[in-house]
Amino acid sequence: MNPTPSSKPTSRTDPGTASHPSSADLLDAARAAAQAAGQHAWKNRDRRSEVVATFAHDVKLRLDLESQEVAESVLRQRFPHHRIRGEESTGTAEGVDPATCEWIIDPIDGTVNFSHGLPLWCCSIAVRSGGRMRAGVVYAPALDECYTATDDGPAECNGRRLAVSSVNSLSTALVMTGLDKGIDPRLPPFEIFRTLSASVQKARIMGVAALDLCRVAAGQADAYFENGIYIWDIAAAGLIVERAGGRSETLADLGSGRLRHIASNGQIHEELRNLIQAVLSQTGG
Ligand code: IPD
Ligand code: CA
Repeated sequence: MNPTPSSKPTSRTDPGTASHPSSADLLDAARAAAQAAGQHAWKNRDRRSEVVATFAHDVKLRLDLESQEVAESVLRQRFPHHRIRGEESTGTAEGVDPATCEWIIDPIDGTVNFSHGLPLWCCSIAVRSGGRMRAGVVYAPALDECYTATDDGPAECNGRRLAVSSVNSLSTALVMTGLDKGIDPRLPPFEIFRTLSASVQKARIMGVAALDLCRVAAGQADAYFENGIYIWDIAAAGLIVERAGGRSETLADLGSGRLRHIASNGQIHEELRNLIQAVLSQTGG
């Protein structure tokens, strides 16, 4: 399989300028960068065992670093003065002027899946300015899925409009979740998982947060929860959920960039948040 994703330009509601690009301009750049980075990883997948660092529950690949560089070079050509923050970026985003566009990149989300040859991984790129996400792209080459949204346009997958589900109770919901990289079985996320799996129709761990959120946007899952996630995992897909009619909310900053985040179709948002907070208050988490 060697998919060629849709690269149709988005409709333009704001013409934009070189110094103040429109959301459609930003989306075009995000899509070009995500497709270049994602295709780099996909075409070089036979090099997935080239490891640069291993951890107890994670791995960093040479292709993580290369794909970040591919994405950055596409963005630098179009917007040389914009800031870039990435999971594999060496740059710093400290002191970013909120008016300046800041790109947020995860070149490979789901690296562990990718390293095992599973198709569940993606490249995630978002851009924010003025304190809000302007555009986001989640591109999954092995699935031939390219999810997109702007702050003034619809959420789409391969050009097809997305809408969240209408499930209105956790008891009938499919909820995506994940396990913190710093796994400690005594920590509250496991208590939340235990309670969650008993309270919903089914809890699922797919190992790729950005795609989990896109499943919520597509109405294939109803909610998402994770503790210890990073901004690059949720930035693009959070916007995609919102533009599909759902909600994406960071509940807490856990320090060192780690976040506690939920997303949903909107209808079960409060129920999910209450359940998580009840478990945390019982466990002191
Ligand atoms: C990871 C994936 C996984 C989530 C982890 C993330 P990475 O991202 O999104 O689903 O459970 O918390 O760190 O490391 O593969 O980019
Ligand atoms: Ca990553």
